[in-house]
Amino acid sequence: METTASKKLDTAFKKDVYDGLNACPKYLHSKYIYDKRGDRLFQDIMEMDEYYLTNCEFEILDSHKAAITECFGNGPSGFDLIELGAGDGKKTRVLLDHMVQNNVNFTYRPIDISENAVNNLTANIYKDLPGLAIQPEVGEYFQVLKRLQKYNKRKKVIMVLGSNIGNLPHPRAIEFLTRLASVLNNKDLIFMGFDQKKDPKVILDAYNDPAGITAAFNKNLLHRINRELGGDFDLDKFSHWETYNPETGTAKSFLVAQEDMEVNIEELTLSIKFSKWETIHTEISQKYDANTIQWLCNESGLQIKEQYTDSREYYRDYIFCKGSLFSF
Ligand code: AVI
Repeated sequence: METTASKKLDTAFKKDVYDGLNACPKYLHSKYIYDKRGDRLFQDIMEMDEYYLTNCEFEILDSHKAAITECFGNGPSGFDLIELGAGDGKKTRVLLDHMVQNNVNFTYRPIDISENAVNNLTANIYKDLPGLAIQPEVGEYFQVLKRLQKYNKRKKVIMVLGSNIGNLPHPRAIEFLTRLASVLNNKDLIFMGFDQKKDPKVILDAYNDPAGITAAFNKNLLHRINRELGGDFDLDKFSHWETYNPETGTAKSFLVAQEDMEVNIEELTLSIKFSKWETIHTEISQKYDANTIQWLCNESGLQIKEQYTDSREYYRDYIFCKGSLFSF
């Protein structure tokens, strides 16, 4: 590894790539997968039969939309439905359609780190649901959460679908839930999807499809480093590898070097050596059970108000409110 004093780590992306590739073992943050190309690949993943999460959550929202809307409440002052990590909003549409048809008084506030995703989502909603009040925002969860503190004029329902929380290890998930809990008033709610523990084979298949879509998604990290930071990763010299530990419920994605090599990243003035079979850890996708969800709630000051599952019980959407210790 060589660096020069002229190296400028002037963006979070540069700094995180520099730190991750200099660490032992190497890692890269999965949030950087999501540029325009990564968003498209994730759309393709959500269309795959193996990636059961999308259909399960769709089934839950479709079959329980009336009960979920009822639980959100339809008081005279209405509520803000704030969706973190809105993505393409396809699943959310089932709920939005139902709520618009039933004249529920709410404003939809979709938030995503991907400007591209937010723009597409907003354009589609304007076209298909012109009567819906929508206020989109681009930003990272934690920055947006700070802004959420101001949304105190009326009831908030904070929605995080797609088991997005599963991309955080438990301590960060607790930090995230605690921060969410801290912006809740006593009537506010969190509506959140959690993928459940199940046959390990089903989980491995979801993250290791034979068409190689998940591999391309994972390798998009290297593609992005090449494009944005002047890297010269040869993507064919890395393979995608998935593991799942049924005890902890943690699925992990890796990129594995197929030979000894040296990779240069111009913008970081960095040259990194890989030995054959060396790994870059790229993503975790945590799976949950009832005890773990209860533990996360206890640690974060939240309480389960309702929960909904699909016919195979692969996935659960929970409605949380502030825990009794915190309510006033
Ligand atoms: C966005 N996130 C919840 C997905 C997951 O299941 O962890 C990302 C993904 N990675 C590989 N396939 C899908």
